[in-house]
Amino acid sequence: MATWSAPGKVFLFGEHAVVYGKPGIAMAIRPRVYVTVRHSKRPLSVSSPYIQSCFTEMGVTGSVYINSQIPSSSGLGSSAAVTVATLCAINDEFQLEKTREEIADMAFAIEKKVQKGRASPTDTTVSSYGGIVLITGTSRRRLPPVNLHLVIGDTLVSHSTSQMVEQVAEMKKQHPEIINPVIDAIEGVTMSAIHHLNNQKELGRYMDMNHGLLDALGVGHPALSRLVLTARMAGAFGAKLTGAGGGGCMIAICPKALKHRVAKAIEGHNARALVTGIDTEGARKEKNV
Ligand code: PMV
Repeated sequence: MATWSAPGKVFLFGEHAVVYGKPGIAMAIRPRVYVTVRHSKRPLSVSSPYIQSCFTEMGVTGSVYINSQIPSSSGLGSSAAVTVATLCAINDEFQLEKTREEIADMAFAIEKKVQKGRASPTDTTVSSYGGIVLITGTSRRRLPPVNLHLVIGDTLVSHSTSQMVEQVAEMKKQHPEIINPVIDAIEGVTMSAIHHLNNQKELGRYMDMNHGLLDALGVGHPALSRLVLTARMAGAFGAKLTGAGGGGCMIAICPKALKHRVAKAIEGHNARALVTGIDTEGARKEKNV
């Protein structure tokens, strides 16, 4: 029996622009997914296509137990974390000796297959390695970790990443003269933010700018705007939607002393709040329970 865990993720900067080859910054966060795999001759019967694909790709049969602390379908990378942790647990249980890089690549291939070609390597990279990752096109570079005080607000409004990506593509086609400069401006914000990762106040200002630009791309939502404003009014340094938008989650970067106040303010608006921070470890082996 082998148990492994992997973290979720948030986009700090650059979502949507990354689809057009611009840089994006994502960070691994605490809640994790825990996966236990055990040898078994019986064929696996699970409804998750991600887990099914992990066993098929690794060429083994076994049983699996999942304990996820990451809310699913909220843009916090739960499917990538499940995939990475399952591959690592299979690798360990069956002594397949795959490297972390091979696992990250396999996890991306599985996400891509299950999501019918619509996946970026962001989630699986961040979940595999942890910390902060700069993504540009197909290249991924780890940035030095910093201790940010984040509050995530989940609007509980369901959204579809592929639909939001398509919507931006359509806007870009219809109004290239407006949308292209917005995407370039997001790139500007991301590139500037890289140099201020240690300055939370400054990062907050960049988050505010990034949120305005995402709104201009049409991926905002009244519930997101409400939480973003609420967080700022409660003392956050800055706040923005995170991930695909149109619902899902926002993040706020806060002074340490105010993070619980910001979370409480968010919860006052029919939303779920999560006080979190960086997870510098990616996938890791856990004690069997
Ligand atoms: O829905 P999420 O959090 O996985 O974020 C999607 C981010 C996009 O840039 C919109 C798409 C992508 O694949 O990078």
